[in-house]
Amino acid sequence: MKQHKRTLVTCALPYANGPVHIGHLAGAYIPGDIYVRYLRLRGEDVVFICGSDEHGVPITIKARAQGVSPQDIVDKYHRIMKDAFTGLGINFDIYSRTTSAIHDSNASAFFRKLYDEGKFITKESEQYYDDEAKTFLADRYIMGTCPKCGNPSAYGDQCEKCGSTLSPEELLEPKSALSGAVPRKVKTTHWYLPLDRYEPWLRDWILEQHKEWKTNVYGQVKSWLDGGLQPRAVTRDLDWGVPVPIEGADGKVLYVWFDAPIGYISNTKELCEQRGDDWEKWWKDPETKLVHFIGKDNIVFHCIIFPCMLKAYGGYIVPENVPANEFLNLENDKISTSRNWAIWLHEYLEEFPGKQDVLRYVLTANAPETKDNNFTWKDYQDRNNNELLAIFGNFVNRTLVLTHKYYEGVVPALGELNDTDKAAIAEMNAYPEKIGHLIESYKFREGLAELMNLARLGNKYLTDNEPWKQIKTDPERVKTVMAVSLQIVAHLAVLSEPFLPFSAKKLQQMIGLEVKGWNDAESTVLLPEGHVIGQPELLFEKVDDSVVEAQLKKLDDIKKANELNAWKPAEVKPVVSFDDYMKVDVRVGTVLECQKVPKADKLLQFLIDDGVKQRTIVSGIAKYYTEPEKLVGKQVCFVANFEPRKLKGVVSEGMILSAEDKDGRLVLLTPSDLVTAGCSVG
Ligand code: MF3
Ligand code: ZN
Repeated sequence: MKQHKRTLVTCALPYANGPVHIGHLAGAYIPGDIYVRYLRLRGEDVVFICGSDEHGVPITIKARAQGVSPQDIVDKYHRIMKDAFTGLGINFDIYSRTTSAIHDSNASAFFRKLYDEGKFITKESEQYYDDEAKTFLADRYIMGTCPKCGNPSAYGDQCEKCGSTLSPEELLEPKSALSGAVPRKVKTTHWYLPLDRYEPWLRDWILEQHKEWKTNVYGQVKSWLDGGLQPRAVTRDLDWGVPVPIEGADGKVLYVWFDAPIGYISNTKELCEQRGDDWEKWWKDPETKLVHFIGKDNIVFHCIIFPCMLKAYGGYIVPENVPANEFLNLENDKISTSRNWAIWLHEYLEEFPGKQDVLRYVLTANAPETKDNNFTWKDYQDRNNNELLAIFGNFVNRTLVLTHKYYEGVVPALGELNDTDKAAIAEMNAYPEKIGHLIESYKFREGLAELMNLARLGNKYLTDNEPWKQIKTDPERVKTVMAVSLQIVAHLAVLSEPFLPFSAKKLQQMIGLEVKGWNDAESTVLLPEGHVIGQPELLFEKVDDSVVEAQLKKLDDIKKANELNAWKPAEVKPVVSFDDYMKVDVRVGTVLECQKVPKADKLLQFLIDDGVKQRTIVSGIAKYYTEPEKLVGKQVCFVANFEPRKLKGVVSEGMILSAEDKDGRLVLLTPSDLVTAGCSVG
């Protein structure tokens, strides 16, 4: 491996059009944080950069839908995300935003230099234009019929019904989502980065020199390269973004995927300004190692497009690795912000105070490192109860409680070691390197599994040596057993820090261990004879069934709400003629009496004044009108010539009209003003 002087770590800048969910966390932010915490413990010079990605069309769509400005939207989500990351202990050195002034000028200057040096090509294309709204339409703003499945409300970039990727030209009967107008094609010019020029360099740099990259990343890059690269537009006709800094480019902004990665640089500059540090060494010194943590949908941007931008600019380093993860599903269903199918970090932190490490643990143990993976609440409970609590927590607690019981919290001497002790110590001493190596190779799941193996070792050692029995027969031996166990506890307190920072801190405080770095764990004795440990507290607590049930209920409610939202009016029935329609005699009547039909939960029995006489009508709406007496005096519409029927022993002379809402709720139809009983409805 190459030696580096410093490491620059970035996590994908999350879009500020929604909060952060567990998929983001498992994909990029938790692995990035583990990596950085480890490097810091190693004493390396590292900065950890992130921030909100605040441009792009989806933000403008959300703003429009809510009747607020895009700035309002990004302000809201930037706050939520920033606080939530802090709450989970994701310790960025800076979490800034792409609407900052420094980013605006930085991204602008970046573009301008490439422009001035002729690194772009221009191309004219035809784009849909909305004459009413006086604006070009982003693909998302064009709606029409899907050519593949006939869905009448497909978008210009995608049909959400059949999932096909579309281009606006393919849509049948396109309409503007802004005004409903039929858009017209207008010529427009944009700047393109000719990626094809960089293909030989990319092939050599990644396919030859970085065969060690994760196979999911390497494979995706290879297939892009094998497919041949095309020039990519880096500007858009839009009014939300960094304006294109060229005369005559009014109404054009930098494409969000052009400005966002430059945000990594802007945020580093901002950080260095605050610190009085030199930003350029982080981005231009070949002895800096750059690592991007991202999810798989970002691979092409971080492995192909952004590196080409950096290469075109010149003088920048390119990433040493891009350890992208695959996707995490939730309860076997794809996580989706628009369908609200997610566990939102800010909600989790509120509902599970003090349980940050449980989420960090589950998302790391289950991380989609090589293939998509699944989060379930049952698994969350099992991993908490059977792993964190039963293995890690239990071992620590037993050791600390016994130390207090036998020695009032004073660490005994190691004394004379037998073969079991020596073997346990040798095993313990292998973990810092083992876990460190796995973290350095971006294998965080395995690293965490090894940490748990160290706790297992402790548990087994304690159980095999049974100090609670030996204390009567061989108290000297127990001193050794407890001293060895305490060293294992102390090693856990150091090595767990990257994964479980809150518990690690708590444990370190409990045992009075001051950690200077990862290397501390390379010594055998971290708690010397005579050291006094504090009172044991529980590190983890049981997650009860009721907690899991409540979360599953919450998800179930979301599923139901989604099904309701997916509701569409029934298909229109076959045409009826005027004459046929006129056969149905609908009239208004006044309710004289109303009560439940005995032994029939659905039925209400009405007595109606129909203008001539009183008639009884039975209607199946009892569930929705639980106080039938309140209907007395109201007017209803009814079919007067409906064939009489006997319902639960009551003869019903007609049918009362009601609307069936999308949730199945029945609502009586009432004239909007008082009318004479018996008048016709038509
Ligand atoms: N906002 C993008 C996403 O959430 C990630 C942007 S990463 C950056 O998928 F490199 F562009 F910053
Ligand atoms: Zn379709």
